[in-house]
Amino acid sequence: MRQPRPSRAASRAADRVAIYPGSFDPITNGHVDIIMRGAAIFDRIIVAVLHNLEKAPLFSVEERVQMAREVFAGEPKVAVETFDGLLVEFARQRGAQVIVRGLRAVSDFEYEFQMALMNRRLAPEIETVFMMPAESYTYISSRLIREVFALGGPIAGLVPEVVEARLRGTRTRRRPKR
Ligand code: PNS
Repeated sequence: MRQPRPSRAASRAADRVAIYPGSFDPITNGHVDIIMRGAAIFDRIIVAVLHNLEKAPLFSVEERVQMAREVFAGEPKVAVETFDGLLVEFARQRGAQVIVRGLRAVSDFEYEFQMALMNRRLAPEIETVFMMPAESYTYISSRLIREVFALGGPIAGLVPEVVEARLRGTRTRRRPKR
């Protein structure tokens, strides 16, 4: 027998929503890889950029959000937002059932394991799901991108083009006047 189609509201309530949190200073091709893998599994994936006042960032939160939005402009399943406070509270506000984190190497595991278990204690209904990026991205981190770029090394192919262009812009901006 044909099943009645769920109403639009009902199907929205059943959506599997994932949060992919991080600092994204800047977003790398490794992050993009994980987000696209998440988008293939979940109905919606929210890239959540942490408002962290303690760190001295390379890019402002607004710039990071803008770049990520440009990268995912053609991806209706991907949204980019900022958050502060507890991640699980943000996840609850957005109706997310899942937190996605990328695991590149065993060295990531300890920190991620602690965070996942703390988040589970804080919000038992939210599950952390770990995803591995393509092998070619396993050595990339935002910190290394910042360092290599600051020292004049090439970063093409490691970050989205919009990020590369912005990084070149920061170099021009910061060049001392004669
Ligand atoms: O890209 P990062 O810096 O590894 O991301 C870390 C992040 C943003 C996921 C983490 O610092 C975080 O969730 N901060 C929000 C505050 C919070 O909820 N802390 C308790 C988590 S155990």
